[in-house]
Parts: sequence; structure tokens; C-alpha cells
Amino acid sequence: MKTRRVGLVGITGYAGMEVARLLAGHPALRLVMACSRAEAGKRLGELYPFLEKLPGADVVISVFEAEKAAAGCDIVFLAVPAGTAMGMAVPLLAYGTKVVDFSADFRLRSRQAYEEWYSRSHNAPDLLREAVYGIPELYAEQIAGARLVANPGCYPTCSILGLYAALKNDLIETGGIVIDAKSGASGAGRKSAVETLFCEVSDTFRAYGLPRHRHTPEIEQEVSLLAGRDVRLSFNPHLVPMNRGILATVYASLKYPRMSAEEAHEAFSRTWEGSRWVRVLPQGALPETRFVRGGMFCDISVVADQRTGRLIVLSAIDNLCRGAAGQAIANANLMCGLPVETGLTLAPVV
Ligand SMILES: NC(=O)c1ccc[n+]([C@@H]2O[C@H](COP(=O)([O-])OP(=O)(O)OC[C@H]3O[C@@H](n4cnc5c(N)ncnc54)[C@H](OP(=O)(O)O)[C@@H]3O)[C@@H](O)[C@H]2O)c1
Repeated sequence: MKTRRVGLVGITGYAGMEVARLLAGHPALRLVMACSRAEAGKRLGELYPFLEKLPGADVVISVFEAEKAAAGCDIVFLAVPAGTAMGMAVPLLAYGTKVVDFSADFRLRSRQAYEEWYSRSHNAPDLLREAVYGIPELYAEQIAGARLVANPGCYPTCSILGLYAALKNDLIETGGIVIDAKSGASGAGRKSAVETLFCEVSDTFRAYGLPRHRHTPEIEQEVSLLAGRDVRLSFNPHLVPMNRGILATVYASLKYPRMSAEEAHEAFSRTWEGSRWVRVLPQGALPETRFVRGGMFCDISVVADQRTGRLIVLSAIDNLCRGAAGQAIANANLMCGLPVETGLTLAPVV
């Protein structure tokens, strides 16, 4: 298998760390460049002892320079915060390097929406039209031909995959959808902040970001495209005392309130039959984050409740693998002409 050279900016973050872990076992994507301002000069194996004796351990961390990155890499992952990524993507693309951006900088198709929700101006609005939203189950063909992929957020990945079959099969009303989602603390990143200290996170449970969490417009954008009409929904995130994982519970009104649990389950199972990573659980089984930890699976359960006229969908992913690094690698596989699952076939870490 021909090897492609990968660069990674943001190696000291949780998403970057997960990229390094996954690429250590990838047969065709080789990590040749890893960038950080704080840890420049260190060997990767020194920063991350779990990588010693694995591919990537001898890469020496450097400060990002677009020209150098473009000369040495076929594709670059930008695992840096929103606002920073766009300034890196523009020169990389100009030098002819492909880019997978983990941040929100290219996820929203509307510049106005980006500027409203992220409270900053966008300096590359043309690229908003070009970037492909990187959920392989929805956009594989476009991703394969893309120079720039906007890797989706972790909550949006979980929510959109959960809602997909309900929308495609016209099972629900699109008004009044509520997404009640919970994430482990790694979703907030590795930078030091009081609110993610052990004593602030452990042994407690809280909501945050209501009612305008920044993942809301991203979810609404993709759900609207699937529904074929503008959809407004409530997205309510919570922080749970665990390291990784997301569980989203989605509530929507059934279009046909007499729909049986069997019919709803059958529609979901049919829609995802043959999917590499979406697993519709048997009727009566409910997903758990521990069964998707460190992997690419999205475990989904659907419950049609005739008593309340509601469809309840539960969707679980690993935020760092499926919701960030693994999905980015799946997108890079497609961009490099590789099978989407290359290097991503291991079972979750239970
Ligand atoms: N954590 C998740 O579950 C998750 C899921 C999906 C998407 N994402 C997205 O992935 C990106 C990274 O997230 P994370 O959780 O890994 O964040 P993080 O743990 O806070 O790490 C951020 C990384 O970005 C680098 N960085 C920060 N500011 C920079 C700047 N001005 N110039 C260059 N490098 C800079 C930092 O490197 P140095 O300070 O060492 O230079 C660090 O390696 C974010 O856009 C995030 O929204 C995260």
C-alpha cells in the first residue's frame, strides 16, 4: 500500500493525541510532522510514552510553518481551536496540500451564521462554500474529491447520525426536536481550565451552554438538509464525570403516532443495514458509551412510544475517535483514495 505523509497541528491536545494513537496502527498514513508551540523540540515518544516503539515515536515536534508543512506532507490535520485553523488552512491549500480541519472554522456553510455564533469574522468565506462536511456516511463521494474537509463536531456527529434514519424515513415532525446530550470531560479539550479540574468534574453532573451552544447551528444545518426544510431544534449539552464518550437522547414527535416500536426499529435497521460503523441495537437494548470507547462505532437505539406520540432515539459515540480523530482519518482515507475503514478496524476498548 502506498504511504501518504501526514502532518498534524495540535499534537498536545486530546484530539491530536488520539490522531497519533490511531496513526501508529495505520497501514498507509504515516505521521511525519507534529506541531505544537509549547512542546516544540521534544520527540513524540518523550511527550507520549504510550507511543514508544510505535510508528511516530521518533517524530520531533516542531512549530507550524505552512510552507514546510506543505513541502513535507500530502495531507495536514488541523486539531487546533476555531479561529486559529482558518489562518493555517488558507496557505496550506494555496501550496496544494489537502486539509482536514477539526475546528468549526469550515463547518457552517453560511458566513453570517459563523460570524454570529463564533463572534468573529471569517477570513476565508470562499472556502466555506468549498469545504465538505466530513461525515463519511452522508458525504463519502464529495469527501473523496475534496481538498478541504470540515471534520464535524463530536456532538453533531452523534446527533446527526441518530436523527438520520428518522428524517430519511419521514418518521418525525421536524418542529420541537430536543437533543439532550452528555459528554465526558475530554470533549472540552486538554488546556487547563478551572471548570475541567478533577474536583470540578468528578462526583457532579451539570448542563452547560444553554440555550446557545455553538454546536446548535451545525446540527440544524445538517438536519435541515436531510429534512429538506429549515429546522430549529433545542440542543442541550451536559458534562458527565467520565473521560470520554457521548450519549445523546433525541426526542421528537412521531408523524404517525400509532407507529409501533417494531416499525420504527425496522425502518432504522433497514436504513443502516450494511453500514460499516452505525450499529442499530436489537429492540430493547440501549447504547452505552463504554461499548464504543476508542472506536468508530455509533450505537443507536430507537424507541417509538405510542403513549406519548414520541420517537426517542439514543445515540452513543466516542468523542475523541468517532467524534474527532477517527472520523478525520476516515475522511483522509477517502481523500487519499483508500478504503474508508483503513486503519480503523479495531474493536472498541472495553
Ligand atoms: N476534544 C474533543 O472531543 C473534540 C471533538 C471534536 C472536535 N474537536 C476540535 O478539535 C480541535 C482540538 O481540540 P482539543 O480538544 O484537542 O483541544 P485542546 O486539547 O485544547 O488542544 C488544542 C491544541 O491546539 C493547539 N493550539 C491552540 N492554540 C493554538 C494557536 N494559536 N496556534 C497553534 N496551535 C494552537 C495547542 O497546541 P500548543 O498550545 O501546544 O501549541 C493544542 O495542541 C478543536 O477545534 C476542537 O473543537 C475536539
